[in-house]
Amino acid sequence: MKMDTKNQQIQSVALKLLLVLWSESTPASSLVSLAYNATIEFYWVPYLVESNSDIDIIDIKKRIIKVDAIAERAKNWMGVDILVFNTYVWWMSGIRIKTIWGSFANGQEGYEEFDTPVAYKLALKTWANWIDSTINPNKTRVFFNHYSNVLLLRSQDWGNMEGVKCFNETKLVRKKKHWGTGSDKRIMSVVAKVTKKMKVPVTFINITQISEYRIDGHCSVYTETEGKLLTEEERANPQNADYIQWCLPGVPNTWNQILLAML
Ligand SMILES: *[C@@H]1O[C@H](CO)[C@@H](O)[C@H](O)[C@H]1NC(C)=O
Ligand SMILES: *[C@@H]1O[C@H](CO)[C@@H](O)[C@H](O)[C@H]1NC(C)=O
Ligand SMILES: *[C@@H]1O[C@H](CO)[C@@H](O)[C@H](O)[C@H]1NC(C)=O
Ligand SMILES: *[C@@H]1O[C@H](CO)[C@@H](O)[C@H](O)[C@H]1NC(C)=O
Repeated sequence: MKMDTKNQQIQSVALKLLLVLWSESTPASSLVSLAYNATIEFYWVPYLVESNSDIDIIDIKKRIIKVDAIAERAKNWMGVDILVFNTYVWWMSGIRIKTIWGSFANGQEGYEEFDTPVAYKLALKTWANWIDSTINPNKTRVFFNHYSNVLLLRSQDWGNMEGVKCFNETKLVRKKKHWGTGSDKRIMSVVAKVTKKMKVPVTFINITQISEYRIDGHCSVYTETEGKLLTEEERANPQNADYIQWCLPGVPNTWNQILLAML
């Protein structure tokens, strides 16, 4: 986000920022507010570091992540006043992550498979090094948006034994300190550990647990696929309930309020 405004003026544009941040695979886009002389840019790169699935999304099993390469992506982050990062959902494939680094004589064949938190940590360290060596904290503020994960969302987590995902859920979870199965706390602790050692201060937007309660906040069967809403018939099948995207306005609006307060 680039801007030259007073805090309270950015409310409307900040809203757009997180809206696009969360989208699963929206291409790069930007929004310019002339009234506030602010530019909000969205730049999508699933793993922060480079991978063979950055532009053309490829089969999960074929994805290879270059945990030590970021320059090609990071050149888009230069000269920005406020940077807000996030990476999570793409890592949660449930399988070991094919990882390469350095220059492999065998090219992509030389990968090693790591458990997700290990690969995530290598990638995040690459990101942290880039930030520390490139960003002037007097000019740029850096935020890291913790995940709001809903992958593997299971109705059993909130005691609805017969339920399927978030289908027909209209009330939030009442259980205090509820965490869903899809939240990988190992990832959260990697983020905490890596950022603690950084020179450039990074502010967390820790919305993970507060978002967990809102099983009613997902698009469910009112989602769309390839630009089309589901048909009546498709809606009747709970398996079609989308539990990854959030409704707007709704939970993401609250994240925006939190970011705004931090700014
Ligand atoms: C808008 O921001 C740019 C970049 O900071 C600055 O050069 C320009 O003077 C600003 N325009 C107005 C109308 O404030
Ligand atoms: C940031 O500002 C402080 C105080 O003015 C100064 O001491 C420091 O050198 C600056 N840091 C950089 C990286 O410019
Ligand atoms: C949705 O939930 C309500 C209230 O719990 C229930 O009466 C209704 O039958 C459910 N609808 C479907 C399609 O499962
Ligand atoms: C984020 O907040 C949750 C509680 O809402 C807490 O359990 C967790 O440790 C926090 N994570 C970090 C990295 O601060």
